[in-house]
Amino acid sequence: MKWAGGKGRLLAQLEPLLPPGVERMRHVEPFVGGGALFFARGPQRALLADVNPELINAYRAIRDEPGAVIAALEALAPGHCKERYYQVRERYNAGGQAPLERAALFVYLNKTCFNGLHRVNRKGEFNVPFGRYKNPRIVNAEGIAAASEVLQGADIRCDGFEALVESAKPGDFVYFDPPYEPVSRTSSFTSYARGGFSQEDQRRLRDVYAALDKRGCKLMLSNSDVPFIRELYAGWNVDIVRAARAINSNPNGRGKVAEVVVRNY
Ligand SMILES: C[S@@+](CC[C@H](N)C(=O)[O-])C[C@H]1O[C@@H](n2cnc3c(N)ncnc32)[C@H](O)[C@@H]1O
Repeated sequence: MKWAGGKGRLLAQLEPLLPPGVERMRHVEPFVGGGALFFARGPQRALLADVNPELINAYRAIRDEPGAVIAALEALAPGHCKERYYQVRERYNAGGQAPLERAALFVYLNKTCFNGLHRVNRKGEFNVPFGRYKNPRIVNAEGIAAASEVLQGADIRCDGFEALVESAKPGDFVYFDPPYEPVSRTSSFTSYARGGFSQEDQRRLRDVYAALDKRGCKLMLSNSDVPFIRELYAGWNVDIVRAARAINSNPNGRGKVAEVVVRNY
């Protein structure tokens, strides 16, 4: 899946920051999105969640019925063009599909829409325009089969971060990758699903981080390097990584952006 804020390009910088013995720990990821770190690691046991119900539906379908998802995508792929894209988008917005077909429509749109964005309007309709890719990889059968394999050991939930955290246990490794605090609150886009992630949400997340620290979980959290976030996590270990952002609503914001990685170990 392409995903705004995807961690694919940061993996080489994040992996050395994982806790010693992580291969024996359960991997918990409350803001899973495209799950770049999860899929790169391929842990045997995991608890994954996101508030986006369509994303969660797609992961469950890929875990449980990869062959059927591939077949549904194979039926959609031939003759891909702009007109087809808008027809599929309309079908998807009309709803009424079984979960498996809906998962295939979601993957198709993810692979062919502009920048792999997921954006909905006030009515909840997916409204991202056509992406001008020469040859989008709509059916990545090997990728789906491999993802399905990794997802076998995963409990996948559609939930907010606070609900998920009730289930975290001592000794779990928890990676938090929330919607980022914008460098400036007025100019930035923070809305991944309906509704953004406010400063109040960032504070509630810090409280969850503090509670899980006490519980004995190993914690790693990504966010942008801004004073508000530095203050929230003062007292924990902060490292800096540099990300080349692929998806950014502000064209001037492209380039290398400093991010913090906050760890309790
Ligand atoms: C920065 S993205 C995660 C990117 C991911 N690490 C990757 O590699 O693609 C943040 C995710 O948090 C989800 N999200 C937003 N608010 C949330 C909440 N309150 N609880 C859980 N997930 C939330 C969004 O749907 C989005 O997928």
